Amino acid sequence: MELVHTVEWMRQAARQAREEGAIVGLVPTMGALHAGHLSLVRAACAACSNVVVSIFVNPTQFAPGEDYSRYPRTLDADRAAVAPLGVHYLFAPPVEEMYPPSFSTSVVVEGLSERFEGRSRPGHFRGVATVVLKLLEIVHPSAAYFGRKDAQQARIIRQMASDLALGSEIVVCPIVREPDGLALSSRNSYLDGRERAAATVLHRALATVRERVEGGERRAAPLVEEMRRKLAGEPLAAIDYAEIVNGDTFEPVTTVRGSCLAVLAAFIGSTRLLDNLSIEECNGRVTCTL
Ligand code: PAJ
Repeated sequence: MELVHTVEWMRQAARQAREEGAIVGLVPTMGALHAGHLSLVRAACAACSNVVVSIFVNPTQFAPGEDYSRYPRTLDADRAAVAPLGVHYLFAPPVEEMYPPSFSTSVVVEGLSERFEGRSRPGHFRGVATVVLKLLEIVHPSAAYFGRKDAQQARIIRQMASDLALGSEIVVCPIVREPDGLALSSRNSYLDGRERAAATVLHRALATVRERVEGGERRAAPLVEEMRRKLAGEPLAAIDYAEIVNGDTFEPVTTVRGSCLAVLAAFIGSTRLLDNLSIEECNGRVTCTL
């Protein structure tokens, strides 16, 4: 596995791999890799003959006052974690390499970027779309891998890839969870012992929705009510949003039909966590996936 720090070197290496007939896969990350990230890397290695993992804590997707400066940076451990999986390139550019002083272009996926995560974190999706577009342009992968844990992000990137005819398939992988249900996240490392225990409330709230939907409930209002009640019952949790949305538009729905998501975000102490439940309804039958 080769560690690459410059855009030009990465571009040349990926171009050469494509010219030699490789199927190139890209897994964009901000590092502090955990089993969720590694599941994307495994999926990429299974489907592609040359896999690039990028590690870049992207400053433009953090709002002022967010955790950019204290975001965990663990390059040596990350390198050791991905090397045995068959990754070819670890692309870890410094900030000046991705954003030279004259940098002045950004991409906005309108509509989708304004709801939920976008409303709570102004500018966040502009930063995400811009850096992901740049990574896709540097590597030109056949496929790029994202987690359903950040469902709105994955939906926005898929829209951008389609709108701009980027030619890379956007693959969305399942959520990897701790045994008690908490979705793995680099930010879980901020939680102290009491907060870590309280953080399972996100999963518990979604599990209640799953139970009610599997029991036949299709009205969104009582499902949302139940989610909020569950979150409100945890003293260390402060709810940001909890909704049932159309999986395509991220507009709230009144009835569960077709592809929907129960989405929620909450602060546990000062740490903001998000999670979601996928609800696929077809002719009255439902499949819920946590
Ligand atoms: P990061 O938070 O490091 O996540 C990188 C990828 O891992 C994302 O696609 C995310 O959805 C996925 N992921 C995180 N936790 C997961 C889990 N528990 N199970 C499955 N997949 C999980 O998301 C970002 O970085 C950045 O916004 C990025 C796309 C790299 C752009 O800067």
